[in-house]
Amino acid sequence: MPWSVTTQRTEQGELTIGGIAVASLADRFGTPLYVIDEEDLRGRARRIRGLFQEAYTRSRVVYAAKAYLSPTVAALLWEEGVGLDVVSGGELYVGQAGGVPPESMTFHGNNKSAAELAEAVAAGVGLIAIDNDREVDLLRRLTEGVSAPLRVLLRLNPGVDVATHAKMLTGALDSKFGVAVATGAAMATVDRIVSTPGLALVGYHAHVGSQVLDPGLVRRTIDSMLDLAASVRDRHGLVPEVLSPGGGFGVSDSADGDDASIEEWARNAADALHRGCASRGLPAPELVVEPGRAIIGPAGIAVYRVGARKEIPGARTYVSVDGGMGDNIRPSLYGARYTASIANRAPLGPLETVTIAGRFCESGDILIDEVALPRLEPEDLLAVPMAGAYCLAMASNYNLAPRPAVVGVRDGQVRLLRRRETYDDLVALDAPVPTR
Ligand SMILES: Cc1ncc(COP(=O)(O)O)c(C=O)c1O
Repeated sequence: MPWSVTTQRTEQGELTIGGIAVASLADRFGTPLYVIDEEDLRGRARRIRGLFQEAYTRSRVVYAAKAYLSPTVAALLWEEGVGLDVVSGGELYVGQAGGVPPESMTFHGNNKSAAELAEAVAAGVGLIAIDNDREVDLLRRLTEGVSAPLRVLLRLNPGVDVATHAKMLTGALDSKFGVAVATGAAMATVDRIVSTPGLALVGYHAHVGSQVLDPGLVRRTIDSMLDLAASVRDRHGLVPEVLSPGGGFGVSDSADGDDASIEEWARNAADALHRGCASRGLPAPELVVEPGRAIIGPAGIAVYRVGARKEIPGARTYVSVDGGMGDNIRPSLYGARYTASIANRAPLGPLETVTIAGRFCESGDILIDEVALPRLEPEDLLAVPMAGAYCLAMASNYNLAPRPAVVGVRDGQVRLLRRRETYDDLVALDAPVPTR
């Protein structure tokens, strides 16, 4: 079910989220509008945390901020005991603005700049996941003469091929992320880290991809990580305190897709760790998981207003809305399939198959390619579920369209989390026009 837990219809057929009519939110805050169901967000974070803790006591959940981060989202998740996985100085800054202690964060990225690493070290980020040799060299300089060594993980490429979209695949041999276990590159980087006095290699990280539906894959990932851990123990006498097999739990964007079972994922990870450590004579490490989409995806709903309608005989019917690839590029980028529902009235009447087009000047700006809906009229509101993850996080000002507002709803209350951009915002960073 792609809709958030509090999404309902009133007796009159209007869609409500968090006890508030979507139409009233659209009237008050304008469209496109992103609505975050705070009960859903908190509930998912709590549930995922509980499932991992049940399966493996020494486990910790950090939220992959790249899915979407704002200070309030960071604060709500921290209240639920969930830290952050950040991949940039910007995410670190926003997480801190939300009051999340840097010690509870992991800093990722395949090409961290010297400035970002310096920011992470200065802030006291709990774990820095080193991706490559250059980062070891940058950190060597940053940690010269420190009294306590910096706790780092090494991002491994475990060589695990996953059935997902090629653009969401990160753990096969041919990847820009991490250092490969199979080629010996990982051990060479381990040697480099171990010979750096300011660094303490406390464990390993891997993330094999996003939208992964097979929870069994985590076993292969953990096995590959433990193979390296055992070799490092034999070579350097170093055992991992932390093992982080990343995130990537698949969540369907549409009504007919599958979701990964997070219970099974947690059980598989726990079992692979217990067995894998016992068979290799390694102590059981802390398990750190990094879901992004599975926490925030279903909590976010995008709301658009319907505009033009074009019926092209022999081709298709286009219904255009006032957003599109500027706020959600995933259909164009990955072929992501969304569903939608009329929000301002009951979804009654005969269904017709239409293509929901965005407002941006690209033929590829199609939000939903063929969806069966009752006839949409101009000014109707269309709600798109599963819009919490990787939509606004990748938003742009293409066509100089101001980016949407974000509101949080809960128990009949609404709060503005991010105001809509204005035309003034569009020129706020530009230098004034030179005078002659
Ligand atoms: C290192 C790392 N961890 C976690 C995630 C989160 O993935 P998802 O949102 O699919 O759970 C990503 C996504 O790209 C990632 O690169």
